[in-house]
Amino acid sequence: MKLWGGRFESGPSEIFERFSGSLHFDRRLIDADLRGSQAFARALERAGILTATEREQIVAAFEAMREEARSEEFFAGASDEDVHTLVIRKLKERVGGLAGKIHTGRSRNEQVSLDVRLWLREECDRIRGLIAGLMESLVELAGRYPDAVIPGFTHLRRAQAVLWPHYLLAYFEMLARDWERFGEARRRANVLPLGSGALAGSGFPFDREAIAADLDFDGVTANSMDVSADRDFALDFLYASTVTMLHLSRLAEDWILYSSEEFGWMALGDGVTSGSSLMPQKKNPDSLELIRGKSGRVAGSFHSLMMTLKGLPLTYNRDMQEDKEPLFEAADQLAGSLEMARAVADSVALVPGKAFQAVEESWVVATDLAEALARSGTPFHDAHQIVGALVLESVREGKKPADWTAAELAAFSPKFTADFLLLLAPGEGMKSREITGGTGPKVVAGSLRRARERLELMRS
Ligand code: ARG
Repeated sequence: MKLWGGRFESGPSEIFERFSGSLHFDRRLIDADLRGSQAFARALERAGILTATEREQIVAAFEAMREEARSEEFFAGASDEDVHTLVIRKLKERVGGLAGKIHTGRSRNEQVSLDVRLWLREECDRIRGLIAGLMESLVELAGRYPDAVIPGFTHLRRAQAVLWPHYLLAYFEMLARDWERFGEARRRANVLPLGSGALAGSGFPFDREAIAADLDFDGVTANSMDVSADRDFALDFLYASTVTMLHLSRLAEDWILYSSEEFGWMALGDGVTSGSSLMPQKKNPDSLELIRGKSGRVAGSFHSLMMTLKGLPLTYNRDMQEDKEPLFEAADQLAGSLEMARAVADSVALVPGKAFQAVEESWVVATDLAEALARSGTPFHDAHQIVGALVLESVREGKKPADWTAAELAAFSPKFTADFLLLLAPGEGMKSREITGGTGPKVVAGSLRRARERLELMRS
């Protein structure tokens, strides 16, 4: 069955049907299509196109199809052009000629926009739930080692000592923004396109606000041509997905490094690692590598749709059918990665002693010393030079910060009074960073508490 044909003398070629058909992927929108069509049947009744009995018949048929579409059998042997065509064919099988009325004043162009919006709305909710789940696990992991000190890096060189929870809460903040981004994507998708017709606005007096209320949309779109041409809401979703994947990819990269023999201050659980077919000793971080790898695929999906839309003349063009596979692909890879990242986080065992050793062996306290000098009146540039020279001297002599005595420090520079010895302990300098957003222990404890409260609000 076709939703068109009158103007043609012969049907489409087999190659064109095969090339243009989208049922094998857009069938995923079936429930959205059926729910949208039920609401449209009610709108047709309000507009005087369907009688109450006809509307009842159609809505019931769609309801039965929603149930049946859960099983593979429903799609068996279907060769319809797309999911919308399949739905109408099945409706015809159930209600006969009456099915011909369901497309009164409705175009597939607005229908596909509606379906994708309905699908995206739910997908945003699902993904927000998964993001919150991962955030919960990070907070839990932070709480398991509240006092652990690790080196913070810049340029992958040990930079300054930070608290383990402070490090994890950095990812908490990224994910909190991702969670918001999906909220914004949802908000922008949550506008009703029906009533736009093919591009010029429907020729029937639909009460668009009533349809919006029926389908739980926040409002109605303002321009019918915009509706037919617009896939911004899909791009918003893909952008949010890409940024979230980039965050997961960076977390994955960190943990691949930290759990390596070279770092050795984190262990990943057996359940999220795999062995080598050849090398018996291996325990590889494949789960994290796959997250990192999939982040490229999701970014690719985002780019794919941007490239598809670039330069399309207004309004609808069949190119736009290519929006769905990147969307589905991104949603699936992202959801899977979020679940995987959570399982990895739950499996992590920190080796606080090893992490602290990495801190102690390095000169992460150098900034603490320079800042202490500056606090007692030395211009910071001079302080920087003095401590730099101290580090150089230590490197030459193979000395760690803890190898210095108060007397040696004083001999090195008279500016190093006795109390500077204390600052050679990495935990000490952190206490001077009790500033909002800093790694001061009191601030971090407060941030961790607030993170738990924020999660509760997100869940409510
Ligand atoms: N399957 C199409 C899509 O996903 C919707 C159908 C509109 N087709 C058309 N030739 N106007 O975009």
